[in-house]
Amino acid sequence: MKHLVAPSLLAADFTRLAEEVTMVNESQADWLHLDVMDGHFVPNITFGPMVIEAVRQLSTKPLDVHLMIRQPERYIEQFRNAGADVITVHYEACTHLHRVVQQIKETGAIPGVSINPHNSVSLLEDILEEVGLILLMSVNPGFGGQKFIYNTLLKIQRLRERLTIRNLNARIEVDGGIGLHNAEKVLQAGADVLVAGSAIFKSENPTDTIRRFKEIGGEMRKFV
Ligand code: DX5
Ligand code: ZN
Repeated sequence: MKHLVAPSLLAADFTRLAEEVTMVNESQADWLHLDVMDGHFVPNITFGPMVIEAVRQLSTKPLDVHLMIRQPERYIEQFRNAGADVITVHYEACTHLHRVVQQIKETGAIPGVSINPHNSVSLLEDILEEVGLILLMSVNPGFGGQKFIYNTLLKIQRLRERLTIRNLNARIEVDGGIGLHNAEKVLQAGADVLVAGSAIFKSENPTDTIRRFKEIGGEMRKFV
């Protein structure tokens, strides 16, 4: 199956949120990526379940919720009730990651785990079987519009190798600094899901940019 594209709403014009979500609805995007930040785990603060609930009413795409918050276990239910289809927590933000992943599964959402650029994919070795998605941060989380950290390509390759060897079908999602100039490399390294904020919403024709992201080559992989 072809890779997925998940526009990150963080880069959208919030004075025209409904229009931006409608643009995504009418595009070839697969998921809508929503970045929740708490001002503790990351320096920035964005939005919470209330805004996601509103977006849920407008969006026809699955909601891919990326929690950049400490102690996410306190809010899993709320985000699920707000309409999250995928809930990703950070390895660095969970003391009992395995428990949080089970908690996400119990809500019926797809559980995802993310690591920051300085952390090795080997840290996820014992949780791989439990998750539906691994989100590799290719910038330090907190802000859109940052530069892609190229070491991420090696991490994607290593993770792809581990998933293949173990015959696991969790998706590899990559987030931060992705544009039409480097997306092919990211896909060739073994990514399944591309998140892009500025590259889409700040472009002249976001719908067309999404189409171009979808049309980029890259390995074809079969998902379950
Ligand atoms: C950053 C967020 C990203 C962000 C990506 O912490 O997790 O999802 O929106 O934005 P770009 O694509 O502009 O780097
Ligand atoms: Zn994100």
